[in-house]
Amino acid sequence: MSTPNASSVAPPEGGRRGLFRRRPAAGTPAAAARDRRRSKQHRRLANVAGLMAALVLTGVGYSALAPGASAADDSTGNPSNAVEAGRELYTRSCITCHGDNLQGVEGRGPSLIGVGEAAVYFQVHTGRMPLVRQEAQAPERPPIFSEEEIEQLMAYIQENGGGPTLPSGDLRAGDLAEGGELFRLNCAQCHNFAGKGGALSSGKRAPSLEEANDMVIYSAMLSGPENMPVFGDNQLTPEEKRSIINYVQTLKAQHDPGGASIGRVGPVAEGLVIWVVGIGALLFGIFWMGTKA
Ligand code: HEC
Ligand code: HEC
Repeated sequence: MSTPNASSVAPPEGGRRGLFRRRPAAGTPAAAARDRRRSKQHRRLANVAGLMAALVLTGVGYSALAPGASAADDSTGNPSNAVEAGRELYTRSCITCHGDNLQGVEGRGPSLIGVGEAAVYFQVHTGRMPLVRQEAQAPERPPIFSEEEIEQLMAYIQENGGGPTLPSGDLRAGDLAEGGELFRLNCAQCHNFAGKGGALSSGKRAPSLEEANDMVIYSAMLSGPENMPVFGDNQLTPEEKRSIINYVQTLKAQHDPGGASIGRVGPVAEGLVIWVVGIGALLFGIFWMGTKA
């Protein structure tokens, strides 16, 4: 108890030594060592700064290039080629059920006139289309078409049938709190409050939103697949749709913050469990040591 205290107040000698350590006279070996340490620190700092700058530049570069890249992805370059390529894909994979003028085929598939590229994106991107066999509900599968082919199908069906188009820009640029409210009001009754999905009457189900990316959610709202209502821009403005997407994706990101979910009853209960279990273990340890003594 007394030793550390004594040394820290220790007058002249300790004091001088401390001073000496911090400021060695120039030219001494100690000063050289200090300079080396400093320059090492500087180099390390410079490395970190360099790394940060590189990261930021990569990010900026990527975000600047990404839209351009996806536009350039449309290898066909001009839109009419995309429509033409889309017609071929359609003829090969869709025409038997949706007809040669998108008018639909009795007993096989509905008309695609007016469904727009949004519905095509949704159906093909989630692997629901092309339907392989008639079922109560087209199942989700990995998409069998590439992004580029999906764009071509979209272009063809948009060109010939018209309908809702896909949005652009940041699909999460909406208010989180408003999104939560709108989600509970418009979506939770079928998809569950946590977006986990649920059974509907008639043997159908509303799927979990776990896998859905921003554009899938947007295009689902625009096209209203199966039993889901269409949320046109009169029902939910584009901004409200973005709020909902922001909410759904934020919710998903928060689903599993690590640790046991304990029924997702929330942080208070988790804290309580840690408290009870942790303190219990501690008490047990204390009593155990007590009996040993
Ligand atoms: C075996 C028949 C079949 C094939 C092949 C098929 N579809 Fe469908 N399609 C259907 C049926 C049935 C529905 C309606 C039931 C549903 O939505 O689950 C439908 C619905 C759709 C819808 C939604 C329409 C709406 O009102 O929102 C789109 C879009 C669509 N199909 C696009 C395609 C595209 C594109 C292809 C080709 C890549 C394709 N389908 C191939 C049978 C088929
Ligand atoms: C009346 C019930 C109902 C309501 C309300 C509803 N949905 Fe749906 N939703 C469905 C059904 C049913 C499907 C499956 C359609 C299918 O399989 O073709 C679906 C599919 C989806 C999908 C596709 C998920 C995937 O990964 O395939 C998304 C995303 C979605 N809904 C979002 C929403 C949002 C956002 C709202 C609120 C604005 C909403 N839904 C409101 C019934 C509903």
